[in-house]
Amino acid sequence: MNACVRAVARCALARCCIPYAVLEGYQGLVDGGDKVKRVGWEDLRGIMPLGGTVIGSARCLPFRSRPGRLAACLNMVKLGIDALIVVGGDGSLTGADILRAEWAGLVEELAKEGKVTQEEATGVGAELKIVGLVGSIDNDMAMTDITIGANTSLHRICEALDSIVSTALSHQRAFVVEVMGRHCGWLALMAAIAVGADWVFLPERPPPMTSRYPDWESEMCALLQRNKEMGNRKALIIVCEGAIDQSLQPLKPEKVKEVIEKRLGLDTRVTTLGHIQRGGTPSAYDRFLATVQGARAVDAVLEANPTTMSPMIGMSENQVTSVPLMEAVKTTKEVANCVSRKDFAAAMDLRDPEFKH
Ligand code: F6P
Repeated sequence: MNACVRAVARCALARCCIPYAVLEGYQGLVDGGDKVKRVGWEDLRGIMPLGGTVIGSARCLPFRSRPGRLAACLNMVKLGIDALIVVGGDGSLTGADILRAEWAGLVEELAKEGKVTQEEATGVGAELKIVGLVGSIDNDMAMTDITIGANTSLHRICEALDSIVSTALSHQRAFVVEVMGRHCGWLALMAAIAVGADWVFLPERPPPMTSRYPDWESEMCALLQRNKEMGNRKALIIVCEGAIDQSLQPLKPEKVKEVIEKRLGLDTRVTTLGHIQRGGTPSAYDRFLATVQGARAVDAVLEANPTTMSPMIGMSENQVTSVPLMEAVKTTKEVANCVSRKDFAAAMDLRDPEFKH
C-alpha cells in the first residue's frame, strides 16, 4: 500500500499534478479538513518498507449513502480535486465508480444549494476521473493475475508454516492450519504447494478429489496414512477460511482435527494464522508491483474518459494492464457467489468426466 501511495504521488508530481493523500479511507473524503493532505516529494521518503498503510484505511458507512458522497464531493471540489486513485478490494472500487457516476448530479445539487460557485461547478467539478488499483491479500479480483499484498501475505504464511513444521516433525504431530482468503483459495493453494503440505481445503473445490472415496474424511485419512507409512513424520493440512465440504457447508479446522484424531489417532493441533498474514514488511515483488501499477494509474488518470468507463490497473502475463473496472468487479462477484452454489460445486467436481477445466 505504501509503495503504491509513494508511486502515485511522486508520478503525479512528475506530471505536474497536485497530489493529495486522503487519510482513513473514504471517511477522510467525507470528513475533509485535515483528513485530505497535500503531499510533497519529501513526505513519501522511507515509507516503502513499512507494512500496512501510513495514510490509514477504514470501512466507511457514510460513503455508502448519497449524503456521504455529497459531502465528499464538496470537499473535493473545494480543494480542486478532479481525479481519484483508489487502492482497495471490490467494495472500495465499486464505491469509487458510484461516486464517478453520480458526480454530475452531486455537483449540480451543491451548486443549487450555493455550496459551490458556478465557476467551481463548471471548472474542477465538471468531471471526476477514477482509476482503481487492487489491494487485497486474497488475490481475489478477476481480470488481473495478482493483487497488491498477496505475495507478501503468501511469504508470511510460508514462513509461519515452516516454523510449524519444525514442531510437527519433531513430535510426529498433525497440524491443521487455517489461512485467510475469504472465498478465494489462492493463498491456501499456493502455500500448500510451496511448503509441501499433505492436504488443502479450498472454497472452489469441495472434496473428495477422486471417485475412489465416498467422502473427504476417508480420502484424506487414506492419504495421510500412506504418507506416514512412507516415512513422513508430520501431517500438514491447510484450510482456507472459506473452504466448504461436499455438502457445501463451511469446513472448519476443528472438524478436520476431530477426524484425524478419531480415525488415525494422531496428536493433532489447530493453528489459525490470523492477522500476521496481513502485516509486516512488504515483499520485494509487492513493492515492485505497487510501484509500476501506481505509476500506470497516474497515466491512466490523465488519459481517462470519465463519461465512459473507469479503468482498473491489473497485471497479465507480467505486463501492467488497464481493464474496465466495473467489469472486473462484476466478474469477481459472480465467481464469489458461484463458490457457494451447488451447480458450481458439481461442475468443479473432477469426478464429472464431462467437466472441462
Ligand atoms: O480480504 C482480506 C482479508 O484479510 C480476508 O482474507 C479476511 O477474511 C478478512 O480480510 C479479515 O478481515 P478483518 O481484518 O476485518 O477481520
